[in-house]
Amino acid sequence: MISKEDADILKQLSAEEGLKFISSKFPETAVFSTSLGQEDQVITDIIFRNKLPIKVFTLDTGRLFYEHYELLSQNNARYKTKTEVYFPDPSDVEKYVNEKGINAFYHSVENRKECCFIRKVKPLNRALENAEIWITGLRSEQSENRENMPVIEWDEERKLYKYNPLINWNYQQVLVYLQQNKVQELSLHKKGFISVGCQPCTRPIVEGENPRAGRWWWEDSQKECGLHTH
Ligand code: ADX
Ligand code: SF4
Repeated sequence: MISKEDADILKQLSAEEGLKFISSKFPETAVFSTSLGQEDQVITDIIFRNKLPIKVFTLDTGRLFYEHYELLSQNNARYKTKTEVYFPDPSDVEKYVNEKGINAFYHSVENRKECCFIRKVKPLNRALENAEIWITGLRSEQSENRENMPVIEWDEERKLYKYNPLINWNYQQVLVYLQQNKVQELSLHKKGFISVGCQPCTRPIVEGENPRAGRWWWEDSQKECGLHTH
């Protein structure tokens, strides 16, 4: 359990100290979800370099970029460990694709959210079974929805704690960490992709655009897929 004192301590700790604190409090039940984006590469580096007892997993939606698989293999080789991969239920995907179409997410927000639910949210819920604390790479700068997210919170829907060690980091801090620690990252970032999701739903951004403008770029809706409700 996280007491009020623990929460206050966590607010003062660096990301590395916080991850050490969390993994000692929840040695078997802390899990980290990585999208293989830059923030998540920072956290992955801290966890694996310090050999923290935290399960690291990613959700393979089946629609990722080739570069995601490349980086996943590089991570496994570099840290001599394995990131667990969770896949969607094949029968969900088959039903959706055969009834609605392979790229039906372009046709309506409803279709898009259903695809995200099948390919991301349901596998996430499976990955979080038995977890007491879920670590993410969210940063408050990323969107309005994330602006007021705390470092640590109780997720009533999923009945676990959610710990966001980088919530107060700015983008520059992420870049500095990656560079100083020579952490590998998606080669897509050099091509104008900042926030990267599935391949058909992500485009590169141009200077001056919001970093998340490339996600579900054809929609006016809130740019969230349902993983992070707040
Ligand atoms: S999303 O909700 O818009 O897709 P975003 O790409 O900003 O999320 O990533 C925010 C956090 O959600 C990541 O730091 C990671 O913890 C989690 N996440 C997003 N996509 C994935 C994925 N495919 N696999 C595992 N975790 C993910
Ligand atoms: Fe489907 Fe696009 Fe959501 Fe990926 S981001 S799960 S392809 S709608």
